Amino acid sequence: MAAFLEQTFFHYALLSFYLLGPPTFIVLRFFQFPYGKHNRVGWGPTISPPLAWFIMESPSISLPLILFPSGQHSTNPKALALMSPFLLHYFHRTIVYPLRIYQSTSQQNTKTTIGFPLLLAVNGFLTQALNTYLQVRWVSHYKSDYDSDGGLFWWKFFGGLVVFLWGMRINMWADTALLVLKRESGGYKVPRGGWFEVVTCPNYLGEIVEWLGWAVMTWSWGGFGFFLYTCSNLVPRACASHKWYLEKFGEDYPKNRKAVIPFIV
Ligand SMILES: NC(=O)c1ccc[n+]([C@@H]2O[C@H](COP(=O)([O-])OP(=O)(O)OC[C@H]3O[C@@H](n4cnc5c(N)ncnc54)[C@H](OP(=O)(O)O)[C@@H]3O)[C@@H](O)[C@H]2O)c1
Repeated sequence: MAAFLEQTFFHYALLSFYLLGPPTFIVLRFFQFPYGKHNRVGWGPTISPPLAWFIMESPSISLPLILFPSGQHSTNPKALALMSPFLLHYFHRTIVYPLRIYQSTSQQNTKTTIGFPLLLAVNGFLTQALNTYLQVRWVSHYKSDYDSDGGLFWWKFFGGLVVFLWGMRINMWADTALLVLKRESGGYKVPRGGWFEVVTCPNYLGEIVEWLGWAVMTWSWGGFGFFLYTCSNLVPRACASHKWYLEKFGEDYPKNRKAVIPFIV
């Protein structure tokens, strides 16, 4: 009975995740989450950005520790292999990235960093909890073809892993470049070089590529849903950031850059 109830919960959670994507995309076309360069007053109490990132992303580390061991595939090497890139990304995003923002801010010449709305951090925490539940439960418990898909598992795994690691490299490179720029300039400057010559937000491009790789690796509705949700969240934000740079820097902003997808968007 408990297993049936949880399976029903899992299916509704998956459905909710898909239903979240289109409204997120539409709303974010007109209105940006008020943090960073899109920050606005009137969103209640704020906390420091490193703490906000830690809070928002913490379910992606804590839930696997709680949920993975209870899955029927918890000792299957294929399930462990699948979980590793997810944990690698989120160890970086939850622990390393906030420490790097903290370090970069404390070394800044001019301190211009503004608070992160607590409301937004709570919203991010809940969305991440839903997403992590879906990815972890599917990999560790609901995936049913680990032993029956022949050699296909490893083709999908390694094919997706190459895409995932490529995306992670772009994402981390771009985040590092922005943090260095912020530390050196103390404010917003036009980022230059590498992927910044192609798109305004290479960190978002890298993130989207990573979760495309994850969708291939897991070959699951949950993985594909996460890829779609990431696009619906980051593509409108990248477009808004592109517009923000054009308005702020005018003629000094390179004309040939796209917002996030090279040569397209
Ligand atoms: N999977 C998802 O759905 C999802 C959602 C959101 C974010 N993320 C990931 O989380 C990471 C951070 O996201 P974000 O939205 O905070 O990225 P962001 O707006 O590009 O900011 C990243 C950092 O760089 C600083 N910065 C940005 N532009 C700058 C400039 N022109 N000059 C100097 N400093 C600059 C920001 O400072 P300020 O904070 O002061 O602006 C912030 O510390 C990214 O890797 C992103 O891919 C993932």
